[in-house]
Amino acid sequence: MTVWHPASWREKSCAHYPPYPSPAEVEAVLQVLSSYPPLVNLAEIEVLKMQLREVAQGKAFLLQGGDCAEAFADCYPEAIQGKLRCLRRLSTVLEQGLNCAVLSVGRLAGQYAKPRSHLVERQGNEVLPIYRGDMINGRAFTLAARQADPGRMRQAYECASVTLSVMRQSRDSLFFTSHEALLLPYEQALTRRVNEKWYNFSTHFPWIGYRSNHIEEAHVEYLRGIDNPIAIKVGPNTSCWMLQKLVQILNPARCVGRLMIMTRLGKSRVSALLPEFIQAVKQTKIPVIWSCDPMHANTYLTASGLKTRCVEDISSELQQTWCVHEALGSRLGGLHLELTHQAVKECVGGREAIQVDDLAEGYKSLVDPRLNECQAVEVLQEWMALQRPLFRPSLPSSFRSSLRASRSNPA
Ligand code: PEP
Ligand code: CO
Repeated sequence: MTVWHPASWREKSCAHYPPYPSPAEVEAVLQVLSSYPPLVNLAEIEVLKMQLREVAQGKAFLLQGGDCAEAFADCYPEAIQGKLRCLRRLSTVLEQGLNCAVLSVGRLAGQYAKPRSHLVERQGNEVLPIYRGDMINGRAFTLAARQADPGRMRQAYECASVTLSVMRQSRDSLFFTSHEALLLPYEQALTRRVNEKWYNFSTHFPWIGYRSNHIEEAHVEYLRGIDNPIAIKVGPNTSCWMLQKLVQILNPARCVGRLMIMTRLGKSRVSALLPEFIQAVKQTKIPVIWSCDPMHANTYLTASGLKTRCVEDISSELQQTWCVHEALGSRLGGLHLELTHQAVKECVGGREAIQVDDLAEGYKSLVDPRLNECQAVEVLQEWMALQRPLFRPSLPSSFRSSLRASRSNPA
């Protein structure tokens, strides 16, 4: 393997790189961002690492959630506090239901760049470049907005900084941030060296997505060299061989808690694919945390062209994923949800029985459909209800000894 440095990803092919009109302008922004202070600090990253070791050992559970794409327009205290309050509530629901500590990680303070399946969007007769996240271009359907603009990386830094300062002022000092490390010039500019190690100080916990997880390409190259905890998404097109290579490249030192694998397989593929994934990783003897993203492989288009997901499908993928881990002596350590505190109608089904016809009025997401808070609670509750009968209750010792006595002296 070649020598790693924060720009070594540039020697590889880079999926989903925006069509910037002027590479010189990108370099100029990168210079500016490189001179800015780190957004997160080493002490926080170290605390996260410690907590992830607990997750890896089964002493805690990880909940990661937030918008598919954060909007610059939502970067004000009330909106940020709403997101934090929602994550806090869901963590409490899990803490009480699972009876264990819950580590909360937001898709927050940096989730501004999106991989897209199509390069363009058509509305009527007009075709424009696709929206790629506020860090890259604008959502408005005009040519000017859709131009990739490197100056937006500076705005992303500012919004992330505002978001982090709201987080630090609230009671949520134990919240951590995460985002998809997609736009590598931004990630590179915030990559700094401390004590002989390189860290990405734009976020605590960067991940790479399903569409940029190629072992020979730029995103894996970038991620392998940083000392933050890292995560990677895998899905139906990931082969067991590729998965083994990924864990070997990303966690060669076999550190407990360094690497999280998020499976996003779809409710009808979990039972066929997940057992092989678990066996393949076991063979490498490299420790990983398994997390479930039950959202991204259950997306479909409605007749009117809106992206949606069905709450029951999301629940089904989560529950099946958990059962497969249980059956194979593995452990599901985390859950990854796209959700919002706002009362949106973007996902159908659930107890609220949201119908396809309801979506038009209640759809606010910039990219993928999110669970609203009620739907997210419902997904958690349905899953926890499933596992309750399997948990052996820990009985008080006096009760246990009387049970033993009653067994040895059958009436
Ligand atoms: C996402 O998390 O918003 C995303 C694009 O997911 P995936 O990489 O699984 O497609
Ligand atoms: Co998404």
